[in-house]
Order: sequence, then C-alpha cells, then structure tokens
Amino acid sequence: MAKSKQIYVCSECGAEYSQWFGLCKECNEFGTISEEPIELSNGGFSRGGWQSGNKTTKIKSPAKPRVSVKFTDINNDEQARFPSGYKELDRVLGGGIVPGSLVLIGGDPGIGKSTLLLQVANQLSIRLPRILYVSAEESGQQVKLRASRLGVEGTNGDSTENSNGKKASIPDNSLYVMPETDLEEILRELESLKPQVAIIDSIQTLHFAALTSAPGSVAQVRECTSALMQVGKRENITLLIVGHVTKEGAIAGPRVLEHLVDTVLYFEGDRYASHRLLRSVKNRFGATHEIGIFEMADKGLIEVENPSELFLGNRDELAPGTSTVVACEGTRPIVVELQALVSPTSYTSPRRSTTGVDLNRLQQILAVLEKRVGIPLSKLDAYMASAGGLTVTEPAADLGIAIALVASFRDRTVDPRTVLIGEVGLGGQVRLVSQMELRLKEAAKLGFKRAIVPKGQSLPDDIGLEVIYISKVIDAIISAIPSERNQNTDFDE
Ligand code: TYD
Ligand code: MG
Repeated sequence: MAKSKQIYVCSECGAEYSQWFGLCKECNEFGTISEEPIELSNGGFSRGGWQSGNKTTKIKSPAKPRVSVKFTDINNDEQARFPSGYKELDRVLGGGIVPGSLVLIGGDPGIGKSTLLLQVANQLSIRLPRILYVSAEESGQQVKLRASRLGVEGTNGDSTENSNGKKASIPDNSLYVMPETDLEEILRELESLKPQVAIIDSIQTLHFAALTSAPGSVAQVRECTSALMQVGKRENITLLIVGHVTKEGAIAGPRVLEHLVDTVLYFEGDRYASHRLLRSVKNRFGATHEIGIFEMADKGLIEVENPSELFLGNRDELAPGTSTVVACEGTRPIVVELQALVSPTSYTSPRRSTTGVDLNRLQQILAVLEKRVGIPLSKLDAYMASAGGLTVTEPAADLGIAIALVASFRDRTVDPRTVLIGEVGLGGQVRLVSQMELRLKEAAKLGFKRAIVPKGQSLPDDIGLEVIYISKVIDAIISAIPSERNQNTDFDE
C-alpha cells in the first residue's frame, strides 16, 4: 500500500512545515517553501539493509548481543588518503581524498563543477583502476565532447601533456562513464563495478522511482544521497556529488544535504572573471576555510599556485585610492589590491556600493573616518572594490579599506609596495589580527617593502620587510598617504 503525506519544504535548507509560509524560519530565505507530496511504495527497495520511508514503521526487535566496541580497541590507523591529481583540491580536502568519504561539491550552474570533476576523474583514472563518472545531465557523447575539449582523449596508453601540464590520457580506459538518471541503476552499477571513486553529476537530476516527487525536490535529493551514501560506505567507494546552488524555486540546493555528507565544498567565482575558488565549508577530515584556486581557460581549469598575482591588479599604473591588504583564507595568505572611489553625490542620500568587500564594513569605516579622523565623507558617494573580484570579508582588511578611502578623498597615491593590515575599531583604534607573521611573509615574498600593522603585534626581526607599528587610524593615514609636497616621490627609489 502506498502511503502519502503532504508537507511543505524549504528548498534552501530542507526545513519542513505543516503549512505554507512565505519566509523560512530556519534560513530566513523568502519564497523557497513549496508543497511536496511524498508517496512511498512500500518502503522502496531493500538493498542490503537500505530501506526507504520506514520512518512510520516501528519494528520491535528482540534484544541483541552488544555491538558497541571499546574505544581503545578501535584501530586508529590514519586512513591512507590518496591524491586527486590536483594540489588545490587536495589542500581543500585536508590533504587528499579520504577513501569511502562523501564529498558534496556545490556551486552555481555554469561555474565549472562538471569541468572540474571530469578533470579530476581523468587524473584519478591514471592511478586507480576503476573511476565511475555518472553523468545525469549530459549524454555520453556530450561528456566525450567536453573531454576532448579538455584534452582528455581517452586513447589507450600513450599520454600527452595538455595545457594544464597534466597527463591527458586514460590508461587502459579506467574511466567509466554512465549517462543515467535512475538511482537504482546507478546503485546497481556501483555494487557491480565497485569503483574506487564515483562522481555523481548532479544530485538534482537523479530520480528515485519510489518517490512521486520530481527530480530535484528536497525528498528526492535527500533519499538519493542517503542511498548513495549507504552503498558508498559499505563498498568503500568515495563519492563526489555535484549539487547546484539554486535560488528559489522547487529545486533543492546543496544546503539540504550539508548535514548528511562528510565534506562540503563550494565552487565559486565571478562569472565574468576567470578565476574560481574552491572553498570548504564543512570537513569531517580536515580544517574548513581552506581555499583552492583555479583559473578557467579555454582548455579547462588550471591550478593557480601563486594566487596573489591574480589579485594584485596592474602594478604599473598607480591610481589614487588604491591600497594593498593581505587577507587570510584558512592557512593561506593572499595579497589583494583594494580600490576606493569617493566622489560628490548627486543623490539626497549618498550611494555606498561594494564589490568583493562587505558593505556594512565599508559603512562602519566611513563613519569612523568621519567621526574620529574628521574627514567629511557623509555627503560623498563611496565605492569599494577588490581586484580580481576576490571576496574579502576579514576585519584585517579594515585598515586597507580606510586608507584607500582617505587616499581617494585626497586624490593621493599610496606607495604600491606597502601593505596594510589591521582591524579598525569604532573608536578609531587599530586592533591586532591573527596570523600576522604568515601574512607579512607572503607580502615579503612578493616584493613588498613596508607593512603598516597594529602596535603590540609581536613579530620576528627577520620578517623581510620594514614594519611600521601604529595604534590609531590617523597614524596609519600619516604613514601611508604622502603629503602634498612629496606626492611626486618616485616609489621605485
Ligand atoms: P560546467 O563545468 O559545465 O559548469 P557546471 O557543471 O558547474 O554547471 O562549466 C561550464 C562553463 O565553463 C561554460 O560557461 C564554459 C566554461 N568552460 C570554459 O571556459 N573552458 C572549458 O574548457 C570548458 C570545458 C568550459
Ligand atoms: Mg554541470
């Protein structure tokens, strides 16, 4: 007998309600709740213990012998991780792929998830005997077409190097492609092929026949993932699952699955810029907030090993209102150029707009500059952007934002070989930030000569650049922005 139930589910976070609401109380998204009929045909199918929809079935089982084990008896051999073939991905995963883990890779449609995973599949297939790429969105020919564009030729044995400097062949055809959307077929293939790694592209297009709801609905996405997870854990298959980020509508986004999976990575970037960031937001086997950086080229994604160069803008053209900061993404320092433009407004209330910088941060710093330093900015428009579109949300960038604003206001050029690091407090004081040594070493490595940092920050002597300690924003302005007299100073001296 089929059981049916009517619930209202948020496609953003998966929260369930018994009635419709405009605003989801869990994630505060508007218009993401939709009605979802759930119909289960007799608890789905059973696959070595996997049962769907048995939430309502209460099974009374007799007492069983104890199955818990002593903590000290558990083997704590660090499971051997294996490399994905891309150092940037390995870094985000915490040092390589953990066998049997389930990794969710979320991102906006068209950002490059399929491209990344096809490249990863290719690299893995060079070292491992069986890699399965389940393409639920594209046909076999379409995957092949993309592969040949990426330089993945699929010829047996002879390997050539493509533009990524990576081996571009599939030895002995160990990469298997399966264009399929039916979950049961995929589970069957996983059990018979037993690949070391299986890539599912994407979870929103999979379909589990026992559920009447459409592919991509919260129920489908959840059931498909948990079924894949059970088979994956049992057979020790690493699963890399693609999830599209969706704003509104009836398709469930990857956040619905975050609690289920071991690792959640987001692939993001500006559609109009070529760089892509792989960011970890949850990782059971490593630190989060690590990022990996890739560049989308005409032949696929290329790893960026020295990201600071990407975010430094054009160093030959000195523009007024530009400053340089060192942001820290996880354990990775990145030197970023910030640009400010302050101009008379033609509106009754001035415009404040940012790209890659937190708008609230900008407004707070404008207020501090007005009140504590006495710079009349409240009647001026203020625009702030980071070069290359990298999102800098850290408070450590505050000092750079403040100096860029003042430099633009006074139409001065800040020495391009100076970096500014520090958090600006509401009283106009500059506060200490974490990982200062790491940040300064990165700046020194890139040829910066001077750093303006908060007073009290303890640093070794051999840091490789001149360090100026300041305690107030006003001191930083005096040190960083040349007075009118020496504005023509040749910075190359
Ligand atoms: P894709 O991997 O299909 O995105 P997703 O799976 O996240 O939806 O990437 C599609 C975009 O990448 C598309 O706009 C074109 C671009 N692209 C390149 O620039 N170079 C390439 O070699 C490839 C394969 C794609
Ligand atoms: Mg895709």
